[in-house]
Amino acid sequence: MESRNYLIVGGSKGIGASLAEYLSFDNDVYYIARSEGNTAIEATYISCDVSHEALPLDQLPDTLHGLAFMPGTIRLKPFRSLKPEEITEDFQRNVLDAASVLKQCYRALKKAGNASVVLFSTVAVQQGMPFHASVAMAKGAIEGLGRSLAAEWAPDIRVNVIAPSITDTPLAAPILSSDERKEKSALRHPLKKIGQPEDIARTAEFLLSEKSSWISGQILGVDGGLSTLRV
Ligand SMILES: NC(=O)c1ccc[n+]([C@@H]2O[C@H](COP(=O)([O-])OP(=O)(O)OC[C@H]3O[C@@H](n4cnc5c(N)ncnc54)[C@H](OP(=O)(O)O)[C@@H]3O)[C@@H](O)[C@H]2O)c1
Repeated sequence: MESRNYLIVGGSKGIGASLAEYLSFDNDVYYIARSEGNTAIEATYISCDVSHEALPLDQLPDTLHGLAFMPGTIRLKPFRSLKPEEITEDFQRNVLDAASVLKQCYRALKKAGNASVVLFSTVAVQQGMPFHASVAMAKGAIEGLGRSLAAEWAPDIRVNVIAPSITDTPLAAPILSSDERKEKSALRHPLKKIGQPEDIARTAEFLLSEKSSWISGQILGVDGGLSTLRV
């Protein structure tokens, strides 16, 4: 079987680290982050802060079969106390950095002929939640970007967006800071659980693989039923 090259931007922690581990069993995995992740995984680490540096393309293969962009924010604040610079920061990290990475990787993705891109939104775009204005604005833009590129880059590059609910990663640590908070959060979900990084990573692995070769332009809720069910 042909070996496939995958790039995970943000593969050192959280969902991205789990995805790197799964993909590394059968593929050549490259991951970018500001700090190195689990060195036991067979994946190539490339140090880069995508908010401030260009991707070191000379360290990446010239063909990419898949790309996942992981960096994101969860800044929960009442709208009236959100500072303009905080909104800008969230937009930069979630949207502009993703757009910049996609521009830089387009040529390598196009070269594969059947590449797949996975971006990340949040359940808080489809379902209004108090204090989520900044992240919901940014992730709403990611959903728009994902759908637009899915149309523009078809049929050579598929693009899909995963919209998770709260998942136990370093990013969500301030919200899930005690067993009581985790339990309370779990009970808000129809499936009575919070997400684990593996729940989301397995979905991303599927969307990046040829098993999902007829899926593009979708926003996929992986959210314990929160966005669609009332039980
Ligand atoms: N966790 C949740 O509850 C949740 C819920 C809804 C949506 N999401 C979305 O799901 C995605 C993944 O979330 P997560 O919880 O796995 O996040 P996470 O734990 O914060 O991990 C993010 C990864 O991105 C890397 N990263 C961050 N900024 C970077 C930069 N400027 N340059 C290069 N790498 C950078 C981090 O590594 P370094 O720090 O080493 O750079 C890390 O590997 C995000 O887009 C998030 O918004 C998460």
